[in-house]
Amino acid sequence: MEHTFKQMLYGGDYNPEQWPEEVWAEDMRIFKKANINSVTINVFSWVRLQPSEEEYCFEELDKIIDMLSEENYDIVLATSTASLPAWMVKRYPDVTRTDFEGRKYKFGGRHNFCPNSPTYQKYSVKMAEKLAQRYGSNPNICCWHICNEYHGECYCDNCEKAFRVWAREKYKTIEKLNEAWNMDFWGHSLQDWDEIVVPNALSEHFEPRYTFFSGISIDYKRFNSEGLMKNYMDERDAVRMHVPNALITTNLMGTYKPLDYFKWAKEMDIVSWDNYPSYDTPVSHVAMSHDLMRGLKSGKSFMLMEQTPSQQNWQPYNSLKRPGKMRAQSYQAIAHGADTIQFFQLRRSRGACEKFHGAVIEHVGHEDTRVFRETAELGKELDMLGDRLIDSTIEAKVGILFDWENWWALEYTSGPHEDLAYLPQVQAYYDALYKKHIPVDMVGLDDDFERYDLLIAPVLYMTKEGLDKKLEKFVQGGGHFVTTFMSGIVDENDNVILGGYPGKLRNLLGIWVEEMDALLPENYNTLYPVSSELLEKESYKCNMLCDIIHLEKAEAIAHYGEDFYKNTPVITKNEFGKGLAYYIGSNVEQSLIDEMLFNICLSKGISRLTNLPISVEITCRNKNGSKYYFIINHSSESVDIKNEFEGYTDLLNNQVTQAKETLGPYGVKILVEEC
Ligand code: GLA
Ligand code: ZN
Repeated sequence: MEHTFKQMLYGGDYNPEQWPEEVWAEDMRIFKKANINSVTINVFSWVRLQPSEEEYCFEELDKIIDMLSEENYDIVLATSTASLPAWMVKRYPDVTRTDFEGRKYKFGGRHNFCPNSPTYQKYSVKMAEKLAQRYGSNPNICCWHICNEYHGECYCDNCEKAFRVWAREKYKTIEKLNEAWNMDFWGHSLQDWDEIVVPNALSEHFEPRYTFFSGISIDYKRFNSEGLMKNYMDERDAVRMHVPNALITTNLMGTYKPLDYFKWAKEMDIVSWDNYPSYDTPVSHVAMSHDLMRGLKSGKSFMLMEQTPSQQNWQPYNSLKRPGKMRAQSYQAIAHGADTIQFFQLRRSRGACEKFHGAVIEHVGHEDTRVFRETAELGKELDMLGDRLIDSTIEAKVGILFDWENWWALEYTSGPHEDLAYLPQVQAYYDALYKKHIPVDMVGLDDDFERYDLLIAPVLYMTKEGLDKKLEKFVQGGGHFVTTFMSGIVDENDNVILGGYPGKLRNLLGIWVEEMDALLPENYNTLYPVSSELLEKESYKCNMLCDIIHLEKAEAIAHYGEDFYKNTPVITKNEFGKGLAYYIGSNVEQSLIDEMLFNICLSKGISRLTNLPISVEITCRNKNGSKYYFIINHSSESVDIKNEFEGYTDLLNNQVTQAKETLGPYGVKILVEEC
């Protein structure tokens, strides 16, 4: 369904049930002062709503919802099923998880229900249904928030049984399963479905990261992601049954490895996510995460469901966000497609592990604080923006392919190099464009590739059925494609595609890779370009993995400078139909990626949003023919900007932009170009 909020939601997680009622009235007063217009409630209230198996009591939640409705808040109603009631664990032990080491959980913590527990399935859905029946007609409820931050894995007997059923449905015959998991290796062939055991420390794994049989381990990841997603869908369907027009979401966690969010997003009406950068998280990683969350639904705007107004409690060093930083981070989310700014949390809890987690209302209890003032100022601005940016879109001509299954498979590999990780590779290619202010979409394998002029697929290790043809069609039609070492190697079961690397991409890339050399962490090779068309320096460094490449139809753009494969190709270019396919055969230094991608963009006529320096971030959202340029200074220093946007009006202060301006520390501009 289409989503549209009537205004930017501004608010966040609110837990009045943790406070005496006299505090609630004070909350209402303080929230209003901050222009907070939305609250997320009922995230962890299961045991209050269902204090025993037979008993449901909604009086307190009725009161809370009545109060919020009277005050006309947009309510994000959670279903409360992320924390198990103690009675449930006591009576039904199947409801908790068994971990990777085989240890059975007791009561405690949260987010630790077994996805295949019949008890959890029954009672979580029942709760969602009761909430929907009771509150579904309340017009103040603008969004349903199922459970909370689904995550983790379970290895219990119920999961094992369910995994056998899942495998049987997928493979139909045990022979097919043996083939997919390559079970002739070490004589692991199975004769019967009930011989399948979950892959953990007691079976095929020697560490979470290392598996003897990646086929079963990847399938278990798929099974687990789908299992939790099924929990989500069951609750969602229960809500939907009583509230057909409900807008339903669950809060995701950005680049969270265990769950295949591209699959999840297909089941969500709107993507929402929780953004908790650490004090040292690069700004471009946050930008990429936002773009990934937007990409999950092919460009639809998303909700920033949680961020802290000041500090976290669960990182090693929970630095305060410096004055202005929370605002800049909030606009960064909007700049990349967020239609809401929500905090965890509105009032800071007294005890337990989050008492040192920042909140809009701090322990002092009043609003005369820096954090409150900053929250209130931002609230005022967002109120002023109204619905202007809601559902606006971002136009990108460059796409970066991102695939969770590829991530799982790549990082399960035993060899050739243990430092190879998916995210840093993707980030390196993202950064090259980010620094040049070239908008990027994070693209799923099911998305339409033809929307792009340039597609980049860093370490596309797993090439699933049909992907090679889809990429060939894209390049054939004139697209440019860039991929790297460790691409095209395996099929969806992590079995090598025989006949020479890069497997099914060989035709498109016009090369054959004979060997892959792994360099020690302290060692480098060099490479030197054949011409200065794409690479401007005389030589560059590369490390980690070095492919030894034979040209078939492709030509070399750069050669190795050292070792026994000196003077052989390391970067290649292949003309394919109307387009070009590039292969980067080693872990090359960042400046090479920067130059090469930028020059490819130039050659394709893909333009930068601006020539402003890299010290500011810039994006553009479009709506009804108007363009909204976000310019954000993420640093604590002022930045002089020679302004290409002279004459545009800044929505945040209504002033017309001058030819030369200074953007203060954490400063933000939203410049509008009217149609
Ligand atoms: C997560 C959870 C919240 C809270 C925050 C703290 O995002 O969803 O309930 O624990 O972390 O940062
Ligand atoms: Zn389980």
